[in-house]
Amino acid sequence: MIINRLQFEGFRNLEDCEITPDSGVNVIFGTNAQGKTNLLEGIWLLSGNRSFRGARDRELIKFGKEYARLKIDFFSEEREQTAEILFQKGKKEVKINGIKQPSSSSLIGKICVVVFSPEHLSLVKSGPSERRKFIDNAICQIKPGYVETLSNYNRTLVQRNALLKDIPYHSELLDTLDIWDYRLSVLGSNVIRMRSNYIERLNISAKKYHSGISDGSENLEIDYSCGFSDEDRESGVKVRDSLIERLKQSRSEDIKDGHTSVGPHRDDIEIFINGENVRTFGSQGQQRSCVLSMKIAEAELIKIAVSQEPIVLLDDVLSELDSKRQEFLLNKIFDRQVFITCCEAASVERLKGGRLFEVKKGVVKMI
Ligand SMILES: Nc1ncnc2c1ncn2[C@@H]1O[C@H](COP(=O)(O)OP(=O)(O)O)[C@@H](O)[C@H]1O
Ligand SMILES: [Mg+2]
Repeated sequence: MIINRLQFEGFRNLEDCEITPDSGVNVIFGTNAQGKTNLLEGIWLLSGNRSFRGARDRELIKFGKEYARLKIDFFSEEREQTAEILFQKGKKEVKINGIKQPSSSSLIGKICVVVFSPEHLSLVKSGPSERRKFIDNAICQIKPGYVETLSNYNRTLVQRNALLKDIPYHSELLDTLDIWDYRLSVLGSNVIRMRSNYIERLNISAKKYHSGISDGSENLEIDYSCGFSDEDRESGVKVRDSLIERLKQSRSEDIKDGHTSVGPHRDDIEIFINGENVRTFGSQGQQRSCVLSMKIAEAELIKIAVSQEPIVLLDDVLSELDSKRQEFLLNKIFDRQVFITCCEAASVERLKGGRLFEVKKGVVKMI
């Protein structure tokens, strides 16, 4: 999909504006705190997701204003369409092609956007839960059934944990644990198989981009760490039965601790560059490049799944990348619409096509 026109009204620090972006790369530059990230955030909100900065809706309305309105004209599903969100009096009103929608989630899947902001570096830097979240969100975007499987798994896990805590006081409950172990294993094996399938494809795609970014010098490898071999993961029944067995083995420990110690809620993904773990051995630039490669791979997998090219938003990615990596990012990686922010005009000189916008005190100007 392509955004042909963007209109912002009363949004954050941005002056009311209308922008006509390029269908390829759009570079948004300016010094700190001018409104560059706000612009990307506006586009992101139109994808139906919550702010990637964790902002509340009322914080989005410009100080002293009553409402904020975001509107886009976009080309998708072979036709011109529009979408808009109005934030007013603690409420959100969403319209697609002029028709009022029950909630902003109607925009999900309609407007596909992938965002990278410096906070996403937590994908390599933080603990496993951030990585599980990334994988789960990515799968949810392309496999609608996964949302339900995952929430059923999580609910069953909470119930099993509650039971584990009760058993020391009510030993008769011990007999019911078998049923919960079975349920958890059936759901857990589905989660594992879907994650495994996704990570395998993400790995192939991210590896390709990372090789490009690093000019062929770095081999990226994303490994799913779930305690099952690649071969075992191909059979849902095998994984299920093995989970049942593992739950049984850890049962007495689990009752003592009051929580479940095995299952996909403990999974992680490991990320290596040339065989070394990026989290511990990667430089800032390598960590950034590898998250970027994963994000662009995510976009590619969305395209394959929904036959729609997602829009890519890259906030502040150019810093800490050397000139070769910047060059690749700006000119070689994209056959889709991209919005990329940066502070230094010098980075922009590497841009060969596309369009340039300067943001100064909330005023967006095409250069
Ligand atoms: N609701 C709002 N109304 C007015 N200004 C806001 C609002 N929310 C954030 N800002 C201002 O926007 C500026 C930050 O913009 P941002 O897009 O993060 O800058 P940058 O260009 O560095 O990415 C800050 O100065 C902040 O005070
Ligand atoms: Mg910013």
